[in-house]
Amino acid sequence: MLMMATTTVFAQHRQEVMLTDNWQFSHDKQMWKNVCIPHDWAIAGPFDKKWDLQKVAIEQNGEKEATEKSGRSGALPWIGEGHYKRTIKIPADCKHAELLFDGAMAEPKVYLNGEFVGEWAYGYNAFRVDISGTMKPGDNLLEVDLKNVEESSRWYPGAGIYRPVKLITTGIDYLDPWTTYIRTSALKPNEATIDVTAGIGSDLGDGLAIEVELRDAKGKLVGHEHDAELSDGGAVYLTFKVANPNLWSPETPYLYKANIKLMRNGKLLDEISQKFGIRTVKVSKEGGFQLNGITRKIKGVCLHHDLGPLGAAINKAALIRQIKMMKEMGCDAIRTSHNMPSQMQMDICDSLGMMVMAESFDMWEYPKCKNGYARFFEDWWYLDIEHLILANRNHPSIIMWSIGNEIPEQGSAKGKELSEKLQEACHSLDSTRYVTQGLDHAEASIESGVAKVMDIPGFNYRVHKYDNNIKQLPQGFLLGSETASTVSSRGVYKFPVVPDDNSKFASWAPGYDPKALEKADGQCSSYDLEYSPWSNLPDDDWVWQDDKDWVIGEFVWTGYDYLGEPSPYDEYWPSRSSYFGICDLAGLPKDRYYLYRSHWNREAHTIHLVPHWSFGKERIGKVTPVYCYTDYPTAELFVNGKSQGKISKNPASRLDRYRLRWNDVKYQPGEIKVVVYDALGNQAGEKTIRTAGKPAKLQLDAYCPDTSDNQLKLKATSDDLAFITVSLTDAEGTLIPNAADQLTFEVTGAGSFEAVCNGDATSLESFKQPTMKLFNGQLVVIVRGAKQSGIATLTVTDRKQNISNTLQIPVE
Ligand code: GAL
Repeated sequence: MLMMATTTVFAQHRQEVMLTDNWQFSHDKQMWKNVCIPHDWAIAGPFDKKWDLQKVAIEQNGEKEATEKSGRSGALPWIGEGHYKRTIKIPADCKHAELLFDGAMAEPKVYLNGEFVGEWAYGYNAFRVDISGTMKPGDNLLEVDLKNVEESSRWYPGAGIYRPVKLITTGIDYLDPWTTYIRTSALKPNEATIDVTAGIGSDLGDGLAIEVELRDAKGKLVGHEHDAELSDGGAVYLTFKVANPNLWSPETPYLYKANIKLMRNGKLLDEISQKFGIRTVKVSKEGGFQLNGITRKIKGVCLHHDLGPLGAAINKAALIRQIKMMKEMGCDAIRTSHNMPSQMQMDICDSLGMMVMAESFDMWEYPKCKNGYARFFEDWWYLDIEHLILANRNHPSIIMWSIGNEIPEQGSAKGKELSEKLQEACHSLDSTRYVTQGLDHAEASIESGVAKVMDIPGFNYRVHKYDNNIKQLPQGFLLGSETASTVSSRGVYKFPVVPDDNSKFASWAPGYDPKALEKADGQCSSYDLEYSPWSNLPDDDWVWQDDKDWVIGEFVWTGYDYLGEPSPYDEYWPSRSSYFGICDLAGLPKDRYYLYRSHWNREAHTIHLVPHWSFGKERIGKVTPVYCYTDYPTAELFVNGKSQGKISKNPASRLDRYRLRWNDVKYQPGEIKVVVYDALGNQAGEKTIRTAGKPAKLQLDAYCPDTSDNQLKLKATSDDLAFITVSLTDAEGTLIPNAADQLTFEVTGAGSFEAVCNGDATSLESFKQPTMKLFNGQLVVIVRGAKQSGIATLTVTDRKQNISNTLQIPVE
């Protein structure tokens, strides 16, 4: 296959080669260095406020006057030109060849043997370049020129060929995976109807025939059809009835396989294999959102495409880590905000069971930043939508398309016209999915008709307007396309503990305090009561999600912190990454992770205490509220054995419906213990945390995401990654929660040091140097396994404490 769920390829002439190694990269075409793809030229830094320094008013946030925004796009050197080259080998008998780029940042222009062969404008989309007319047998020089311009993004876009490139060679007659379309057209209790459109890429001649086999996950044949009736569009339509199908869902991500053969007069010309899932999606006033006919609320998170310290360069293990961690929280959907996803990520969502809202644009004609996609929209929007859908529509994980996020035109007649056009384009390319967009101006978008014409009206934030919105929507339901935007820094607790909409930092808001930034420290409190002036707390969303059938779900902003957009510290330096994440930039869970888990995960219990209990002498005797995040309704808290009261959740109170809070606890070193009770009043569990003693050990917790049962093991493929959480603890293993020691890392044997991140949005230490300070006692080191098997040995050293620890990871 080219661009869809994982496939194996056989057949005679077809060869698919990942162009991973042997690339050279240069900024100026003078000095070249060897690189592998995926590659992000900017992620090593150095961080500097001068990169993409923007003097702007962020209109979307309500700002009227331009001010200096330093870390808006990550404070990394992603602007400028980048050039890549390598040779590719074309087999002697090859008649047709194309290059498949899954995304290149940005404005890629492709040359073969010095001749221009293709280009794309948008850095996030997949595109194909047919090189059949330019190639020659044997070695050919492939060159790719990229260009990133300033003020083109509201976040860190990455830089370079950051997603895979594939060379596909075939005979003159070949199958086209992008026009091959497999979908569930009907589902009865014991039978699914599967429609298959097999797309043929070559000129249609006489005697061509198609044969399709459907196989279940064990390889058993469940359908077999063939046909020689070619339609005008160069495709063959076949219909299958699959008895007793195994349905795809987040809980049961069952995948089938279609083997498609192209024949002429009995001779096999080409063959592709395509994974697919059997499932239906429906949204209605009566049933809300239904997967396979069963109503469920979407428990989703928004994800930007960067992978923290790895930058935009995608990596399978890193993506698996993200998705597994979100699933463990009880999350069942992601929104690829605000652009096209990578194929690798969609394959992972298919196989692990994660529903997806696949998005396209952050702006249309009206620019949200000076040099953004608005430069291209008019000429390119249809092609971009077409590629999004053709490349992705066979992924069962994708449940809906999004044509845009907070599009400024949403309040106008033009906005309605464009919404209809874009939605119609989606429908014409994919008849099975609904289309949405994220609207941030509820009244204006309803007034203009934009919200009313969408299959799924999606509203960003402003939950207090939901009630008014629904009264005016003919659809009878709405989606929280973006919710929460609560902000926090892992391990930071600020006092007094009070809800704060951070409007003191927002020059347009009534609460603005010009002195606030001068006093700021660039961190947000992990009591999870801080949010942006346009947004709210998780608790505020859940009231609507839980109490109103017509709210079909939510996508929280965001699952992970990302590079750029350091609100509320847009004007504070140094700060270069977000605070919105449920997990930090290193992928470590913040307390908020357990708040969501306590509400979303119905399979496992959660008992989590906030804050840590290792404050300094200055806190002794001071009010230090304790929160417990748990799915249990009742709990009793003890401080050094003394009860602080047994309390229950209170549905009538904003902050006590989903959290258990003891607001008057006075800090005393020692231990706090919580005992939880179920709805029948039975004691159901407990959790204790203690005051840490002296720093004594470096604890190393390794995680290799691309293993089925979380084994400590890397594949000897050179692209597998292990994530090692390093924690400084006392002799008993209790975290030293304010430690900021400088650590160093060394990797020897069958692996190499890849990157490190501590989750501190104000850190200017490079992710790519083998040294970094702990942030609140922790950081994550990433080790890359070699191509040869052996043992990769990581040594972590803390010179201040004079301690080190070593970990051995088998690479097989
Ligand atoms: C939304 C926007 C996101 C992000 C978020 C921060 O309005 O869609 O891209 O900027 O705000 O709260």
